[in-house]
Amino acid sequence: MSAVVIIGAQWGDEGKGKIVDIYTESADVVVRFAGGPNAGHTLVVGDQKIIVRLVPSGILRPTSRCVMAQGMVIDPGVLVEEIDALEARGYATSGRLFVSDLAHLILPYHRLIDGLREAAADAGTKIGTTKRGIGPCYEDKAARRGIRVGDLADLAGLEQKLVRASAAWAPVVRGLGGEMPEVGAMMAELGALAPRLLPLVADTSALVDEAVKAGKRVLFEGAQGTLLDLDHGTYPFVTSSSAIAGGACVGAGVGPTRIKRVLGITKGYATRVGEGPFPTELRDELGERLRVAGGEFGSVTGRPRRTGWIDLPALRYVARVNGLDGLAVTKLDVLSGLSEIQVCVAYETPEGRTTEFPVRHLGSAKPIYESHPGWSESLSSARTLEDLPAAARAYLRYLEETIGVPVFLASVGPRREETIALRDAFG
Ligand code: GDP
Ligand code: IMO
Ligand code: MG
Repeated sequence: MSAVVIIGAQWGDEGKGKIVDIYTESADVVVRFAGGPNAGHTLVVGDQKIIVRLVPSGILRPTSRCVMAQGMVIDPGVLVEEIDALEARGYATSGRLFVSDLAHLILPYHRLIDGLREAAADAGTKIGTTKRGIGPCYEDKAARRGIRVGDLADLAGLEQKLVRASAAWAPVVRGLGGEMPEVGAMMAELGALAPRLLPLVADTSALVDEAVKAGKRVLFEGAQGTLLDLDHGTYPFVTSSSAIAGGACVGAGVGPTRIKRVLGITKGYATRVGEGPFPTELRDELGERLRVAGGEFGSVTGRPRRTGWIDLPALRYVARVNGLDGLAVTKLDVLSGLSEIQVCVAYETPEGRTTEFPVRHLGSAKPIYESHPGWSESLSSARTLEDLPAAARAYLRYLEETIGVPVFLASVGPRREETIALRDAFG
């Protein structure tokens, strides 16, 4: 068996794009299984920076097939734009990009409602979504009135569904002071996009199953992060899909027995974009320093990311709900120049001290820190553990021991080569 799931172990933007791109060098199939264009996965190759939102990060490696499975929500306009941008940069997608007919379509009213709701929400209820229509699209899926990629093959039937869905949302849109998009205009847009999407349609669950059975190397590319997971994240400040490793089975239609290994990605510190609890957040100059040094601005929305220290109770919780076999630690280079690095090791709660992540009571929990010596050297030219200063090596070893999960890879810069590979993901 050679199926590996890679997920975000924090609040997203851990560097999944970079790590998936690295492991794709030896992968045959790369599968996105959850989320949609709320994701922004950055790939840096030479002097080119490419941000993919829907297309799997495997697209840069010409020998990999890329699959967008039914757990995703797909904005057809964004997908076509993304494909065109990739083609324009010389990355061929034809014949190697497959989209599930069962994936749900993000439609103009989903984006509209997402934006209107965020604008109407007050400080306590605002989620800080990416306004890409993710929540309302998954709501339609759960309400069993969603419109799927496969519906593009029958435009008359699609129109009837669009009329029904529009009727359901119209009062909501009116209540928020908006105006529902015209069905005619939406049909014209979908009619024009259909010929671009339909040739990509495949039974992706069968495709992935065949690849796994044939012993091919299959990589499942998580989106968002575990603490944004609908069931296991910091609800209600979460996204609307399953970002955890189990989501790969649900969203791609593969059995859990087919998965060989689960890897989680964490930065050497922590970030969050959007609202919601972030106990180790630094709201001071140090936080700003991490933001600038790490280039912590959203790849989709450009919003400044909130920054803070790494949270060990959270990472142990994340290791548990994902069954992590390994970690990739990214952005270690960003910590260079700090005289000390704080690490949250436990929480003070009204019930006393705990080393568990108090996911249910984060509002009343206070992080307890331990200080670690920092290092002054730049790390970007390190390619082996021995190239790292002793303090950086000790920090990695400490994370491994206290989280209880071995480090498979350390990343010291955005580029492919700025990587210290320690263990083989598929080995
Ligand atoms: P993703 O959503 O998990 O794929 O992460 P994003 O692409 O949204 O954000 C991660 C950012 O950090 C991107 O700009 C990457 O190019 C960059 N990055 C990834 N790994 C490293 C690293 O080890 N060091 C530095 N300095 N930047 C990194
Ligand atoms: P990648 O895959 C970081 C956050 C939003 C908001 C919450 C809900 O690049 O790591 P949504 O638009 O999904 O309804 O927003 O989730 N969020 C992300 N934060 N990285 C992401 O994706 C995210 N996708 C959603 O900021 O707090
Ligand atoms: Mg991102």
